Amino acid sequence: MATRVKFIVKRFDPERHKDPYWQGYTLDVEEGMTVLEALLKLSTTEDTTLAFRRSCRSAICGSCAMTINGYPGLACNTQVMDEHRRKGEVVLEPLRNHTVTKDLLVDMTPFWNRMERITPYLMPARKPEGGWKITKREEEKIDRAQRCIMCGSCNAVCNTQQIDPHFTGPSALVKAWRFVGDVREKEKRKRLLHLSDEHGMWDCTRCIHCTEYCPKGVEPLETIERLRQKAMKERIKGNPGAKHVMALVDSVRRVGRLDEAAMTFKTLGLLRSIGMIPFGLKMEIHGKMPHPILFPVIDNIEEVRKIYKKIREDEEE
Ligand code: SF4
Ligand code: SF4
Ligand code: FES
Repeated sequence: MATRVKFIVKRFDPERHKDPYWQGYTLDVEEGMTVLEALLKLSTTEDTTLAFRRSCRSAICGSCAMTINGYPGLACNTQVMDEHRRKGEVVLEPLRNHTVTKDLLVDMTPFWNRMERITPYLMPARKPEGGWKITKREEEKIDRAQRCIMCGSCNAVCNTQQIDPHFTGPSALVKAWRFVGDVREKEKRKRLLHLSDEHGMWDCTRCIHCTEYCPKGVEPLETIERLRQKAMKERIKGNPGAKHVMALVDSVRRVGRLDEAAMTFKTLGLLRSIGMIPFGLKMEIHGKMPHPILFPVIDNIEEVRKIYKKIREDEEE
């Protein structure tokens, strides 16, 4: 039996409207109908001006990504009735962190420009005699990254991208790992150096949203962590991100907690740290930062140091 479902769509035509507005529709929906099928029906029976993008209808082209009841998703693999049961209605908006061109359509040019920045193709090393022999483990390392369908959902929920439009972004970082993690790639170090620059992989705040909302299980954050680990192994450490990680590791080993003052100094250097003093004082006043002199070292620091020792021994084995 069909259920009458309410759809609320954020509409906007920059050529005709000053501001976006909400438009409501109702539709009889059967179990199994996707949001994309509902939109197609609405756009043919109710409102032919409604703009949205789609192609494959099978969750493989990435073009129908939009905000569905507050979160990014693919319209073609989201069930209307699931959303209706969850929220009592289906609210559709364009992807966030993107410029709207019309209704649910967004301008993907910045997305592709970000991809371009990471050189999105293999630069192969010389083929060994007998050809490449790629192990299952080596293939698995880049397997998830290869599942990316370039839908832009991760960029839409990225905190860093929201405040820094120059950030490389999770989707392009996933693509970068696709090549850095490929045994055939010749320019791994060059790529890692480039990704360690400002607006690169170290600017990710690890909010985990990209991993949470990726419709293909690509796990962009885990990919970013792999890029960072690889850069550290390559001893690419002269940037604030890598310095911050080293300062954090050192701080916990030394005092068993985050020594914010020392970490700031080691990450930013003396001059830039001076500018952080008012912020540090505010944190101190609000109890967000243990006093470095009153609480120098935690109790049982030896237990923490044992963990460090064990990790070092495991690494050496
Ligand atoms: S990583 Fe996931 S969310 Fe991001 S573009 Fe690729 S498929 Fe979409
Ligand atoms: S984990 Fe990093 S890349 Fe992913 S959404 Fe958060 S800030 Fe962006
Ligand atoms: S239409 Fe291709 S992913 Fe939805």
